[in-house]
Amino acid sequence: TKLDMDLAAIEKGGYKHFMLKEIFEQPTAVFDCLRGRLDAKAGTIRMGGIDRQLDLLKEAKRIILVGCGTSWHAGLLAEYVFEELCRVPVEVEYASEFRYRNPVIHPGDVIIAISQSGETADTLVALENAKNQGAFIFGVVNVVGSSIARLSQAGAYTHAGPEIGVASTKAFTAQLTVLYLIAIKLGYAKGTLSRDRYLHLINELALIPDKITEVLKTAPEVACLAGKYKNARDFLFLGRGYNFPIALEGALKLKEISYIHAEGYPAAEMKHGPIALVEESLPVVFVATKDAYHEKLASNAQEIKARKGNVLAIITERDTLFEEIADDTIAVPASDEILAPLLSVVPLQLLAYYTGLAKGLDVDKPRNLAKSVTVE
Ligand code: G6P
Repeated sequence: TKLDMDLAAIEKGGYKHFMLKEIFEQPTAVFDCLRGRLDAKAGTIRMGGIDRQLDLLKEAKRIILVGCGTSWHAGLLAEYVFEELCRVPVEVEYASEFRYRNPVIHPGDVIIAISQSGETADTLVALENAKNQGAFIFGVVNVVGSSIARLSQAGAYTHAGPEIGVASTKAFTAQLTVLYLIAIKLGYAKGTLSRDRYLHLINELALIPDKITEVLKTAPEVACLAGKYKNARDFLFLGRGYNFPIALEGALKLKEISYIHAEGYPAAEMKHGPIALVEESLPVVFVATKDAYHEKLASNAQEIKARKGNVLAIITERDTLFEEIADDTIAVPASDEILAPLLSVVPLQLLAYYTGLAKGLDVDKPRNLAKSVTVE
C-alpha cells in the first residue's frame, strides 16, 4: 500500500536503499563505537567488559576468533592486529568448521565471538561447545540481548545500530573498531605496545570517522567504475597483510550484491593459481593503501598489466606509484597501516552496491541470502 511505501522510504532516510544508507552511516557507527570508550586527549581506552577481564585477557595463552561470513573477515584482520600488538598466538575459525572438528581447547583459552545478529546458529553452537570445554567466551556482538550476547561471559557491543541490508557493511567497520580498541588496550596493558605507538594509534583511531566521511565522497567515482565493469564475468581482489582480509571482504560483497563471480586472494599467492585467469577482460582490484608491502604489491599489479588485465586500485592519496600502473584508482586519506582497512573497505562496499544497482538487482535482499542464518 501507499502507506507501507511511505514508511519504507522514511526508514531509508532519503537513501534509495538500506545498504547505501548503512554504508553512509559508517562515520557515525564508528564514532558511536568509540564514544565513551576512547579519549584521545587523555590517552585512555575504557571498556567495561575489557577492564573487568583485563588480567584474564593478559594471561590468555591463545585467542581464538570465531565467526561466519563478514564477521569471519573481521576475525581474520583481528588475527593480524592482535598478533602484532599483543604478541599472543591467535587462530581464526569458521564457526561451522570449529563446531564439528573436535578442536583442542584448553581452559584459559579466550574465544572472541564475532556476530552482527548474535543469532547465527553455527557460531552459537561453536561457542556452547567451547564454553563447555572451559574456554572463556568474549562476545563482539551488535544486537543487544541476542543469544550470543547472553552466552558470552564478557563482551563489548559494536553499537552500530540496526543493520537491515542483508550484506553487512557498517556492522563490519564497527566490529573492526571494537577489535582494534581491545587489541590496543590489551597490547598496552601487556607492555607489548610502547606508549608512543599506543598514543599514536589512539589518535589515529579518533580520526577515522572523519576520514571515512572523506572516503564516501568517492561514491560518484566508484559508481562510474561500477558502470564500466558491470558486465565482467569474474573479478579478482588482491591484498596483503592488513588488507588481505579486506580483499576477501571486497570479493564477498561483490558476489553477494552483483552476482559476479569474485575471488579474494593474498596478492603474492596469485602466481599459484589466479594468474591463470588473467586476460583482457578481467578486472583485478588491488587493495593497495600504503604499508610495508607497497612495492611488492605494485609489482604484482605490473604482472597483471603485462597480461592485459585491468587494474583497479584502492590507494592512499598521492600514491604516484600505483597511479601510473593502474587503469583506475580510488584514493583514501592516509592513516596508520594497521587502521587503513577501516578506510580501504568502504570503496569496495560502494563498488558492490553500485554494480548491483547498475545491473538492476535487489541490493537490500540479494537472492538466496538471509540476514541472519539461524539454521545449519
Ligand atoms: C549472513 C549475512 C552476512 C553475515 C553472516 C554472519 O551470511 O548475510 O552479512 O556476515 O551471516 O552473521 P552474523 O550475524 O553472525 O555476523
